[in-house]
Amino acid sequence: YEYLGNGPRLVVTPLTDRIYVTATQALHLKMGCAPAGPAGTGKTETTKDLSSAMGKACYVFNCSDQMDYKGMGGIFKGLASSGSWGCFDEFNRLVPEVLSVCSVQFKSVTDAIREGVQRFRLQEDEISLDPTCGVFITMNPGYLGRSELPEGLKALFRPITVVVPDLELICENMLMAEGFTGAKLLAKKFTTLYALCKDLLSKQMHYDWGLRAIKSVLVVAGGFKRGEPDLDERAILMRALRDF
Ligand SMILES: Nc1ncnc2c1ncn2[C@@H]1O[C@H](COP(=O)(O)OP(=O)(O)OP(=O)(O)O)[C@@H](O)[C@H]1O
Ligand SMILES: [Mg+2]
Repeated sequence: YEYLGNGPRLVVTPLTDRIYVTATQALHLKMGCAPAGPAGTGKTETTKDLSSAMGKACYVFNCSDQMDYKGMGGIFKGLASSGSWGCFDEFNRLVPEVLSVCSVQFKSVTDAIREGVQRFRLQEDEISLDPTCGVFITMNPGYLGRSELPEGLKALFRPITVVVPDLELICENMLMAEGFTGAKLLAKKFTTLYALCKDLLSKQMHYDWGLRAIKSVLVVAGGFKRGEPDLDERAILMRALRDF
């Protein structure tokens, strides 16, 4: 393995735990894995976190309707022969024709893994197979311009529904990691504030009360805290909120 240093990791919540268990079970059954859910719930990040916990290289591909079956075939070949993991973000943005070819391509990979062969054919090429490769597809169901997955493809992927992340737990642990001593109380206040803002303020596009925004505020607050360790923690968090 290549040592990548002590990289950032996610907070392990009951939700991440559940995704880990389901995803590893899916891999054990030689299937792909399909986390689906609203934006910013941690589908992509949890996949990447699991891959780093398992010591696998994980490549994230942002799918678009411009991608064709040849490109996808190339990616599958690369993943299968190198034993890496691929995370296809917004997989249902691919056009239906490409999706159906993808299911044939991915089926050849899973079939080859099941047969335990060392080399197999994918499209015109014969490639070597590393059975530890993995394919994850993340989706935002019900968005505009997304296609419904074909049944053949659905059968190859274990679906996981990802709902609301445990905001308070994540906040508390992140604050603690940034060096705040009163993390529990601050996290409670912080998430309550965000929940109130989300409910009470008008529903406009430019507001973002998601996990991504919360995280960036907490990181800024951590920087302030390290700059002035003796200041009141409530004041520090308040300043991060106001300035950011
Ligand atoms: N358990 C967790 N601990 C800490 N941070 C988390 C956790 N889960 C999610 N996050 C953070 O939430 C943010 C959104 O996660 P991510 O990008 O994976 O969302 P997504 O579900 O893939 O969204 P999209 O559908 O928009 O792609 C990221 O900044 C990520 O670090
Ligand atoms: Mg994502």
